[in-house]
Amino acid sequence: SGPEVAALVASRVLDVPDFPVPGVLFKDLMPLFADGAVFREVTDRIVAHHGRDSFDVVVGIEARGFVVAAAVAYATGVGVVPVRKAGKLPRAAHSASYALEYGEATLQVHTDAFTAGHRVLVVDDVLATGGTAGATLDLVERAGGTVAGFTVLLELAFLGGRDRLAPRPVHALLTV
Ligand code: PRP
Repeated sequence: SGPEVAALVASRVLDVPDFPVPGVLFKDLMPLFADGAVFREVTDRIVAHHGRDSFDVVVGIEARGFVVAAAVAYATGVGVVPVRKAGKLPRAAHSASYALEYGEATLQVHTDAFTAGHRVLVVDDVLATGGTAGATLDLVERAGGTVAGFTVLLELAFLGGRDRLAPRPVHALLTV
């Protein structure tokens, strides 16, 4: 059930104070990925929520989103498209920038990443301010995909990501 998977995610998150900078409480999901049974259960829950026939391809957001995306893709037999930080992709790419607390960041996707109309499930580990996800959803649409859903393992509600992404729906296995 939803509460059960939320408790499972909660049991595998480590709070790391003052990382990457003083004052930030970092949510480390490496223990979840490292536990095979939990990682498989979480992956299956993501697939069950959306329905295995509701998407044609999975997008993973660099870097931890790649882990989730690969698992969902293998579980359902679809492929993975990476959304990467600027300068990492070798061919023609769309770019989308978003504001950070200081400065901005840019994400990219190859212009030929999607077959027109393909339904794209976007996954990441954590939703914080929503800047990363918002840029990614824009990139999917600009590259010709149709966003079928967006799922994170952990949503930090106090940072307002869900509101920033509205009206696009967000699915989180655990919201804190
Ligand atoms: C983290 C996390 C999300 C993003 C969420 O990635 O994995 O992708 O931040 O933050 P936001 O909602 O405020 O945009 P990070 O940028 O640390 O990249 P990494 O996974 O490569 O370390």
